[in-house]
Amino acid sequence: MKFAILGTGIMGRGWITQCSMTGHEVHCFDANSESLSGVAAGCEKLAASVAKKFKIDDPDFVTRAASRITTYQDKEAFIAAAKNCDVFLEVIFEDLKLKCKVLAEYLPQLPEKVFFWSNTSSLDINPMAEAGGRPERSIITHGMNPVPLMPGVEVVPGEKTSAQTVAFTRQTLLDMKKAPFLAPNIPGFWVNRLLVPQMLDAVRLLEQGKIKVEDGDIGLNTSLGHPQGTFKLHDFVTAPTMLRVALQMYQASNDPRMYPPLTLMRMVKNGELGASSGKGFYDWSDPRNPKARDLSHYVISTAEDIIDQLK
Ligand SMILES: NC(=O)c1ccc[n+]([C@@H]2O[C@H](COP(=O)([O-])OP(=O)(O)OC[C@H]3O[C@@H](n4cnc5c(N)ncnc54)[C@H](O)[C@@H]3O)[C@@H](O)[C@H]2O)c1
Repeated sequence: MKFAILGTGIMGRGWITQCSMTGHEVHCFDANSESLSGVAAGCEKLAASVAKKFKIDDPDFVTRAASRITTYQDKEAFIAAAKNCDVFLEVIFEDLKLKCKVLAEYLPQLPEKVFFWSNTSSLDINPMAEAGGRPERSIITHGMNPVPLMPGVEVVPGEKTSAQTVAFTRQTLLDMKKAPFLAPNIPGFWVNRLLVPQMLDAVRLLEQGKIKVEDGDIGLNTSLGHPQGTFKLHDFVTAPTMLRVALQMYQASNDPRMYPPLTLMRMVKNGELGASSGKGFYDWSDPRNPKARDLSHYVISTAEDIIDQLK
């Protein structure tokens, strides 16, 4: 099968790797040329980590997957390639207006038979499906990070998604060695509806000075079996994506628990974005041995602290 993938950031690369490893041709594009130029190296690294983890005894596994990936610096060339694809997968920023605008531009140019998948982590499928003009063939496939190592994929049909689209999507994902499960079309679906308020609460407790990064993660890891704990997970998701997800979930639900904490906003402003930027809740100078940071300077005790943090 052939996939057109729009967006080559953290999750885009995960999907590109997953598709290419499982025998599919992948055509990809990103508005940011820097992101696009990192695709080959990023996907090879991901495929190599899969080969290592699952003990794949095949010296050509990584290069064969890489040979199925084509990147396009030119949008029109990407759209021309997408016309021959079976699935158009959107993996751009978590912003409903942006996604709808982009889909209204790309999808009407593709043949009707092309399925539209969105990797959104929290947004309503219906406006995206309408914007793209093919609601029967539109569906959410919310993969987890890192896609090639986390099997779960939330499958969220919209009001007009056809049974054929659901069946095709489930079977294609199963064939790609994923574990699809149906989830409701509510803000955050199933996984993030439960997870995001918890992650934001953890940041609030940190900014109240009630918990430290290291203790928080040791606690969740050793008591609930969370492999990373909440703060390390924040760093993998990245602060800008957490901020976008929280804000969109807040706007969709009006639930104050979803409102992004000041610390998250401040970390984005200060460039403390997470693992990929070298600094977040952890210092990632040595990626194999991240060190929990002392973030006591983010503790808010008085109104003056808030005003000070806004500067
Ligand atoms: N980061 C996670 O852990 C995670 C997990 C599950 C789902 N998601 C979802 O996946 C999607 C992408 O998240 P990400 O973490 O990969 O973000 P990211 O910031 O790493 O990548 C997004 C990419 O989209 C590109 N982009 C933005 N606007 C574009 C446009 N108009 N045209 C083409 N490219 C454009 C950006 O240049 C960037 O490379 C979001 O919807 C997010 O909520 C993220």
